[in-house]
Amino acid sequence: MGDYLQTVTEVYAQAARQPDPGLCCLPTAVWQLPGLSYPPRMLEMNYGCGSTVDPREIRQEDSIVYVGVGGGLELLQFAYLVRRRGGVIGVDPVAEMRQAAWANLIEAERLNPWFRREFVELREGDALALPLAEQSVTVAAQNCLFNVFRETELRRALSEIYRVLRPQGRFYTSDPVAPEPLPRALTEDNRLRARCISGCPTLETYLAVLSETGFGRIEVRARFPYRVLSPSEFPALKRPVVLESVEIVAHKVSPPSDGPAVFLGETVTYIGADQGWLDEISGTYLPRGVPMPVSRHAAQRLSRLPFIWYTPPTWYARPNGCC
Ligand SMILES: C[S@@+](CC[C@H](N)C(=O)[O-])C[C@H]1O[C@@H](n2cnc3c(N)ncnc32)[C@H](O)[C@@H]1O
Repeated sequence: MGDYLQTVTEVYAQAARQPDPGLCCLPTAVWQLPGLSYPPRMLEMNYGCGSTVDPREIRQEDSIVYVGVGGGLELLQFAYLVRRRGGVIGVDPVAEMRQAAWANLIEAERLNPWFRREFVELREGDALALPLAEQSVTVAAQNCLFNVFRETELRRALSEIYRVLRPQGRFYTSDPVAPEPLPRALTEDNRLRARCISGCPTLETYLAVLSETGFGRIEVRARFPYRVLSPSEFPALKRPVVLESVEIVAHKVSPPSDGPAVFLGETVTYIGADQGWLDEISGTYLPRGVPMPVSRHAAQRLSRLPFIWYTPPTWYARPNGCC
């Protein structure tokens, strides 16, 4: 399959020279926040497939690395929340992309009185060898880049994220996933891979690699259709394949004794005769009638109990201190 990473670089150098609104992105709304204005060219260069920015969670003291900068849209959104010199570091190996992002950020400075260009630092660098010291940031994010990697490089990129995160750090990732491994005719097409179409892992692979990297807590925050590949467009396919976009947050915390806690939006509710019930294995108290978010492991264990009501994955997991 040749050097697919070289093709990735070429595709994004071109997408920096000439914005390509159809590249990767979904027609989804971007965050509209008070006093935040986007340069039109930055919006045209929205090459993400979801969002990695969560204004409910990013704190002013967070230090952020963002890998694969695109037109700088999410750099600006993170900077909006952090507003500190060097608070956001963007890493990208493609000089044209860094230049385009920087030009967009300078325009953003003109449009937004609160924004200073020095809030963002752009570094030449690669997801596979991040130019950052160990444990130097509290938040890492990437949007629609890691799906282009083959599994070896995906593992390496995730280890790099893990390395630079401080303990308790969070990794926000948004990527397309495939329902099943795609045919080789597609996965070995370097341009399709670079355009975020044919490299997508399955969600199970993504979750497994995150777990094996060491993340002890993983939350699937959103899951929605991204692109439908049809046999008329891709004759190697026997039937249409729905690629989905997922938004995941992985925490650099120690996993529980039964392995990484993976939250998919499942809940359990105590529906017995008492006011509530204490799950002695996890130490969690379940008040009667109140759905509690649970990890996949806990759901498997608890959903068998006759006094527990189980609700299946909603793919919207924002657990708050449960098991
Ligand atoms: C699909 S775009 C996503 C851009 C941005 N995250 C967004 O949401 O708009 C992929 C980005 O990753 C960059 N990129 C390509 N190869 C990379 C690598 N090995 N390491 C880091 N970034 C890379 C590209 O230059 C481009 O900016």
